[in-house]
Amino acid sequence: MRQPSLTSTASFQALENHALEAEDWEMRKLFAADPQRFERFSSEAAGLFLDYSKNRLDGRTLELLAALARERGVERQRDAMFAGERINNTENRAVLHTALRAPRGSTLVLDGQDVDAEVHAVLDRIRSFTDAVRGGEWLGHTGKPITDIVNIGIGGSDLGPKMVVLALRHYAHPRLALHFVSNVDGHDMDATLSQVDPETTLFIVASKTFTTAETMMNAQTARRWFLERVPAESADAALAKHFVAVSTNVEAIKTFGIDPANMFPFWDWVGGRYSVWSAIGLPVALAVGFGYFSDFLAGAHEMDQHFRNAPIEQNMPMILALVGFWNREFLDAHSVTIAPYHQDLNRFPAYLQQLDMESNGKSVTRDGDPVDTPTCPAIWGEPGTNGQHAYFQLLHQGTDLTPIDFIAALRPAHEMEQHHRALLANCFAQSEAFMKGKTIDEVRADLQAQGLPPEEVERLAPHKTFPGNRPSNTILMERLTPSTLGALIALYEHKTFVQGVLWNLNSFDQWGVELGKVLAKRIEAELAGEPQPDLHDSSTNGLVARARDAF
Ligand code: F6P
Repeated sequence: MRQPSLTSTASFQALENHALEAEDWEMRKLFAADPQRFERFSSEAAGLFLDYSKNRLDGRTLELLAALARERGVERQRDAMFAGERINNTENRAVLHTALRAPRGSTLVLDGQDVDAEVHAVLDRIRSFTDAVRGGEWLGHTGKPITDIVNIGIGGSDLGPKMVVLALRHYAHPRLALHFVSNVDGHDMDATLSQVDPETTLFIVASKTFTTAETMMNAQTARRWFLERVPAESADAALAKHFVAVSTNVEAIKTFGIDPANMFPFWDWVGGRYSVWSAIGLPVALAVGFGYFSDFLAGAHEMDQHFRNAPIEQNMPMILALVGFWNREFLDAHSVTIAPYHQDLNRFPAYLQQLDMESNGKSVTRDGDPVDTPTCPAIWGEPGTNGQHAYFQLLHQGTDLTPIDFIAALRPAHEMEQHHRALLANCFAQSEAFMKGKTIDEVRADLQAQGLPPEEVERLAPHKTFPGNRPSNTILMERLTPSTLGALIALYEHKTFVQGVLWNLNSFDQWGVELGKVLAKRIEAELAGEPQPDLHDSSTNGLVARARDAF
């Protein structure tokens, strides 16, 4: 059924009216007026705690947002996703990453396929393979245990495993070093190959389609590099010990020269950016072991259960989505900063960039109509406290309002208590500063107290004033563990899903990446052969001409 446009719905219009009232709200006053604000606007699920009280909203705002979610059919769409309906309507596919983390024994059947049996059969293979590599029984072609694992993949076949391996480094096997090569830029492959030994390196070629240009080129390069270093007569046997594939495309991996016995499959109902739970997570299972990989899946499953069952008003992913929607639509927030106050979540903002922007960076609805409101904000960020000394200036005093998600673990994985106290103090102080700001009168009082002459006080006061009233969420967990990390990722996956439903987008295709790929192929041919100036504008021709001189 065709969805009405967002702005024509009664609940969106009610929000528009409410937003006019809310225009002048100051969070300082909202906090002063309600001593229970923190308790009222916080939520707990799957080992995560979300404080969303430092947003410019009240109980009525949430009621109206929840009404909008109901009118847009969020619960119905959520249930359709879990049930395996083909909600990816431009590719006619189900969306079942949640089935990858469901415990054994679920009963989903999709087109006659027993999803649970297939998922767990692959998990069993992952378990025996990773046990063998980690235990030193899987040996390289000269009989030595594996020491280095190189994952070759890009986008969802890189960002998830890379982010998770880094985040869970405290759980990792001491003998195994994980490397990730994604970029077609040869410097990436070069930097990795210069560190590894062909006798003890395992390459994982990870690509859902097994056609992605960057991955195919990198995989061929790795294969050539490897074959140049093994005796020709044992090449096939050696390849079988050092190259495995993760893909949905068995024909393409055979053509590449990988034995299907060394292939870990997944399915077209797993989107690339939702695939870390599938065999794409093989590097994670190799690094931390199957037990912790299972905990990672279980943490995500716990969040799935919460998302499926909790009413909208107490549903953490729904709340995160609705608050973000409010900030985007009614506070004109063009971007969102992700600020993990945990160095091991260094790659989490990059991971969320693909998850959110590839899912909801769209301007036509599922029905092919132009959207009538802004959609996905830009997502960016760096770990705290580093960001504080770089771009937080703009967040505090710049002209744009940029909501921030602070993420922190209450307990560290190290014993440097002093560091951790400083880290958390900074995290909480920043959210307080964004909310409160500092008025010009407070600044004046400070400067006067320092004994500055009146004219100096007036000269400096505007520069030292903070407008405040800037929204943020804070997500806390006891520790960063496989399970809480799983829950955290699932939280953002479902947040992205809910926002997609509010905007009536198909969050599971990514046609916007195609045009550049086609043009790159054409230009690559021109760099190697004859230029075709008629195909381009003067800028592109000029750039191609300059680059041709370099080859
Ligand atoms: O081009 C974008 C994209 O298709 C992403 O959606 C995907 O995660 C990435 O490329 C890699 O795709 P594949 O796993 O098929 O190599």
